[in-house]
Amino acid sequence: MEKNILTGDRPTGRLHIGHYVGSLKRRVEIQNEGNYDNFYIEIADAQALTDNYDNPGKVRENVIEVALDYLACGIDPSKVTIFIQSQIPSLCELTFYYMNLVTLARLERNPTIKEELKMRDFEKAIPTGFLTYPISQAADITGFDATIVPAGDDQLPMIEQTRDIVRSFNNIYGETLYEPEAVLPDNEACFRLVGTDGKAKMSKSLNNCIYLADEPEVIREKVMGMYTDPNHLRVEDPGQVEGNTVFTYLDVFAKPEHFDAYLPEYKNLDELKEHYRRGGLGDVKIKRFLNDILQETLEPIRTRRKELAKDIKGVYKILEEGTKKANEHCLRVTERVKNAMGINYFDDPKFLESQIEKFKKEN
Ligand code: TRP
Repeated sequence: MEKNILTGDRPTGRLHIGHYVGSLKRRVEIQNEGNYDNFYIEIADAQALTDNYDNPGKVRENVIEVALDYLACGIDPSKVTIFIQSQIPSLCELTFYYMNLVTLARLERNPTIKEELKMRDFEKAIPTGFLTYPISQAADITGFDATIVPAGDDQLPMIEQTRDIVRSFNNIYGETLYEPEAVLPDNEACFRLVGTDGKAKMSKSLNNCIYLADEPEVIREKVMGMYTDPNHLRVEDPGQVEGNTVFTYLDVFAKPEHFDAYLPEYKNLDELKEHYRRGGLGDVKIKRFLNDILQETLEPIRTRRKELAKDIKGVYKILEEGTKKANEHCLRVTERVKNAMGINYFDDPKFLESQIEKFKKEN
């Protein structure tokens, strides 16, 4: 059996450092380990339309942006196939057949969907397309026989839903599909990076993101304005580390070499945290340290992105070729699915034979 990997992102904006630590970084590592047959990254524009159907321009404008972010982070198109979801018609076919296998109640139980509904206006008038996007995501995954899905932990309910569909499909139509598994980041602090305001999740609509493409000055301003401990008013005051966004980010980004380079008076993060708790360590100092780290981390990505943006035609070609390959792969799987369901009338000579036999007997 092939080892296929699939993951994706909605093109509703540029990608931010939450995407980076939550999944992009891991994808590049998996790519470089090279232990797979096919690795697909989907620009999920059709899924993005499920809650942006009235703003298609936003989705269209962000397709190349997201592709640039992938490439800038080190995704190598000779090892990974990047494609655009809406250009793979058989994904819609799969979705339509899987819909029969999922109850409305099951969709309404999905914790990620619940959370997203709360964040959007349509809590009372839910578009069917939005509620059913987990089914379409199951098509994304199974349409390429993917068994490995590198993603953030908010995608776990989608993968669980996919596994339910696979089991149910195989039960009814015979062993056809494979159950996927999620690959989460190693460091739990990366699961769901909070926004710079300390609110739940980094999210464009909350205006609390640091983007991969942000200029140095913008990064600095965002870091200096970050939420810390509201009770830590004077440097001498004892401070709280838990729920302090600067420390949350340091947990994610700080490496031993950063202390050597920027803050040699501390051996490690534990020492820094302890000083903060004790009192006598100011917010400006920890913010400057975080800023140094983020500048160092993001500089090569931003530089590469600018370089890549000089050749948009090249990026377009990468997407065009990737989409062509993905389309062929998904067509093969969809054919297998339709065979299993017996809806392959013109490809299966046995259909005509059996029907001729049947009507011969009847006459
Ligand atoms: N739901 C994912 C997100 O919001 C995007 C996505 C679409 C995806 N299809 C996928 C992720 C398949 C993993 C696998 O970011």
